[in-house]
Amino acid sequence: MAFFICTQCGYGSASWLGRCPNCGEFNTLKETPAYLRDTEKSSKKEEVKKLSFTSLNKIQSLKKSRLRTGLFEFDRVLGGGLILGEVVLLTGEPGVGKSTLLLQSFAPLAALYISGEESAEQIKGRIDRLRLKKNNFLFSDTLQVEGIIDGLEEIKDKVNLLIIDSIQTVYSNQSDGTPGSVSQLKESALKLIGAAKRLKIAVIIVGHITKSGEIAGPKTLEHLVDCVLNFEGEKVSNFRLLRAGKNRFGPTDEIGIFEMKDFGLSEVTNPLIFLDRLEKSEVGKAIVGATEGKRSLFFEIQTLAVPSVLAIPRRVVKGLDYNKVLLLLAVVRKYLSHPLDKFDIYVNVVGGVNIKSTASDLGLIASLLSSLKNLPLPNKSLFIGEVGLLGEIRNVYQQEKIIKEANRLGFKTSYSSSNLSHIKMLKNLI
Ligand code: TYD
Ligand code: MG
Repeated sequence: MAFFICTQCGYGSASWLGRCPNCGEFNTLKETPAYLRDTEKSSKKEEVKKLSFTSLNKIQSLKKSRLRTGLFEFDRVLGGGLILGEVVLLTGEPGVGKSTLLLQSFAPLAALYISGEESAEQIKGRIDRLRLKKNNFLFSDTLQVEGIIDGLEEIKDKVNLLIIDSIQTVYSNQSDGTPGSVSQLKESALKLIGAAKRLKIAVIIVGHITKSGEIAGPKTLEHLVDCVLNFEGEKVSNFRLLRAGKNRFGPTDEIGIFEMKDFGLSEVTNPLIFLDRLEKSEVGKAIVGATEGKRSLFFEIQTLAVPSVLAIPRRVVKGLDYNKVLLLLAVVRKYLSHPLDKFDIYVNVVGGVNIKSTASDLGLIASLLSSLKNLPLPNKSLFIGEVGLLGEIRNVYQQEKIIKEANRLGFKTSYSSSNLSHIKMLKNLI
């Protein structure tokens, strides 16, 4: 068991070290108070605690006490709104729009907004620019967690939501380390979670993270909170997706779609939002359908295959899982006998979105064949299907529903396991 924990990165060591071997910081390994508390506890006998119980019939059901955010897309991901006492961790890259999402959703409600990143004037300016009401919205720049919670107890009748923007700027006086270090994040989060449950106040904790992982601290909080939401989007695109990675009080497969405009985030309900040139057949392009939560969405996959001059051909993938694409390329090599190693292959999903569903497998292969043969796929066609290692095309979740929706939206043909059983049959299409 570790006796010394690095206050910067959380690395544990049985002996004291001057420099943390994990993060390289000097003099950050501290004998942990938590460890000492644990041993004290285990050596003392705890008093017998009397069983306390309550009839579940008397407990208010969750649905009734949901706090709506004002944004339907946000509520949908939360499972109908926030529950009093619930703690949500909202993660995302710096600048993706987390503060904007929260201000837009909660400025008109009775909330206390703690900001360590912007001043009261900046927040007021932003709320005014977004043309939001703010009568019951309170602002504070107190960053010590104990102070925040003490103050919250005094005004708990006035607010039912606490927003911490961000967890990297607050600190607890009971932990060493600078704000943003793993020990501070954990101590602060645990204090806030305790307060949320005790005062029956919903708490949203913002945590900056980056895809490449240079900022990853808030990830260590995921198992502590009730709900983890990730707000994602590319810098070059205005689309933003809100996904639940964990949700104790709602679904985890729903996504909320937003578009960042001059006056904040607007909700996107059109399933064809990511397709701007549906009418046109082009070489290397395939439209795929997938369900995200309860709705069907359609995306454009573009593949460019060009003869390679490299010993090891290049593979660049954006918007799909890289390893999954490599796996599908291997399937194509085997079953369509294509010399793919002579080609550099670039794959992109239009709109800067990430597709997580396996329903896009068939579309990826179709777009690759289209690029290799330099011929477009049939006009207004949709591809939906998971492709197995044997080249077989498999059913996907809610396939019939997506196909029905595609027909309604004007697609002419849908290719799926209902009319294609193996990727070899794609050869007849182009
Ligand atoms: P912000 O919410 O500050 O990001 P985060 O809190 O995740 O760091 O969003 C900042 C970006 O959003 C910034 O680049 C400007 C842009 N933005 C708009 O395009 N329109 C708007 O109405 C607002 C408020 C921000
Ligand atoms: Mg912010």
